[in-house]
Amino acid sequence: MRLTQLAHSILDQYLQPGNLAIDATAGNGHDCCFLARQVGPTGRVFVFDIQRQALERTAQQLQEQGLAAQVQLLHHGHQQMRDKLPTGTQGKIRAAVFNLGYLPHGDKNTITTSLTTLPALQQAKELLCPLGIISVLAYRGHPGGRDEAAAVELQLQKLATDKLQLSRIESSGPVLFVLAPDRHD
Ligand SMILES: C[S@@+](CC[C@H](N)C(=O)[O-])C[C@H]1O[C@@H](n2cnc3c(N)ncnc32)[C@H](O)[C@@H]1O
Repeated sequence: MRLTQLAHSILDQYLQPGNLAIDATAGNGHDCCFLARQVGPTGRVFVFDIQRQALERTAQQLQEQGLAAQVQLLHHGHQQMRDKLPTGTQGKIRAAVFNLGYLPHGDKNTITTSLTTLPALQQAKELLCPLGIISVLAYRGHPGGRDEAAAVELQLQKLATDKLQLSRIESSGPVLFVLAPDRHD
């Protein structure tokens, strides 16, 4: 199973209709469509990207799959999530999903970096509800990717607590980190 699919199957155990979720990197919209389907029309997904092209691709996917109504597109860096989310969402986010690196079939020089990914992870944790989960898929094959993955792991180790435990799933390419409570309902 690819790590993107594995991430979705883990998130599936935590997400329910009506939940609030963050997609921190819109990209081509695959994660966003997954999240929008999970939270359903009564839930909401807040999706960030710094590239207009990524948000346009995501919007198109959402339209085609009939999921646009429950998604808010935000043309901002995820390091601004605390300020850009609607008031009242603090402590209510069930899942925050990071899929790092560059936009596939896009500009390979516009990449996520630890300079912004680390503060975004800190903010995501503060926004989570008690049974919330953060998943981070980090790629190590592009310049800077390995350093970012290492920095992300250190940051997640700092954010982990007795109640919020860090798992690391290794593959020959990307690495998946999951910060989640060990029980869910
Ligand atoms: C690997 S892609 C995301 C894939 C996407 N989740 C999907 O399912 O198709 C990484 C994305 O991160 C975006 N990005 C880079 N820096 C960012 C930042 N500071 N905040 C938000 N998005 C960022 C890039 O523009 C790119 O679209």
